[in-house]
Amino acid sequence: MEQENRKLGDIAFFLTDEQDTQALAQQLAPLLLADDPEHPGLPQGGHIHLRGDLGAGKTCFARALLRACGVTGRIKSPSYALLESYKVSNLYLYHLDFYRFSDPREWIDAGFRDLLQKQGVVLIEWPEQAGGLLPPPDLDIALDYAGTGRQARLTAYSNKGQSWLNRLVLPQSGSPPPGLSADAS
Ligand SMILES: Nc1ncnc2c1ncn2[C@@H]1O[C@H](COP(=O)(O)OP(=O)(O)O)[C@@H](O)[C@H]1O
Ligand SMILES: [Mg+2]
Repeated sequence: MEQENRKLGDIAFFLTDEQDTQALAQQLAPLLLADDPEHPGLPQGGHIHLRGDLGAGKTCFARALLRACGVTGRIKSPSYALLESYKVSNLYLYHLDFYRFSDPREWIDAGFRDLLQKQGVVLIEWPEQAGGLLPPPDLDIALDYAGTGRQARLTAYSNKGQSWLNRLVLPQSGSPPPGLSADAS
């Protein structure tokens, strides 16, 4: 896979419950919004891919992140509309869900390619449905069922994503149930 070549660091940890998932998003939000001290001058925002089975927590994470970025009002899941857009002062935020795509080229026809060139926050659920046509994200988040919680694996594909990982403080409650290794993949 092309993305594998660009893979930088990755970390894995356990998210006990929905609050943990939301806390992770709330931690990442200011990193996306801030001027990055390690890369001054880079525009704020960034691309995050969210992978995992139905119900793994992709939308839950995206909602919490959008909320923490200042989005007010209802945050709908884009499972049907494919795209929900928001604007907070000068920042554009896009939440996409490719679950219903059957032909990877559909996303080009749907005009999403332009959107991906824009600066802003871009969150994509089911990026694998685009069949490798998407550019690598700054950060890939994979959520897997693990007991009653979720195993999270975060992989950076850009320096920006890596600097987010470097500044992340892992959840305190992040110990997996017995028999589940935090590093199992
Ligand atoms: N770390 C977690 N442990 C257990 N349940 C979680 C966790 N994070 C989220 N959830 C729950 O799992 C469900 C995730 O739903 P949703 O975010 O719509 O999934 P997806 O978008 O991946 O299909 C929600 O009911 C949410 O409360
Ligand atoms: Mg979803």
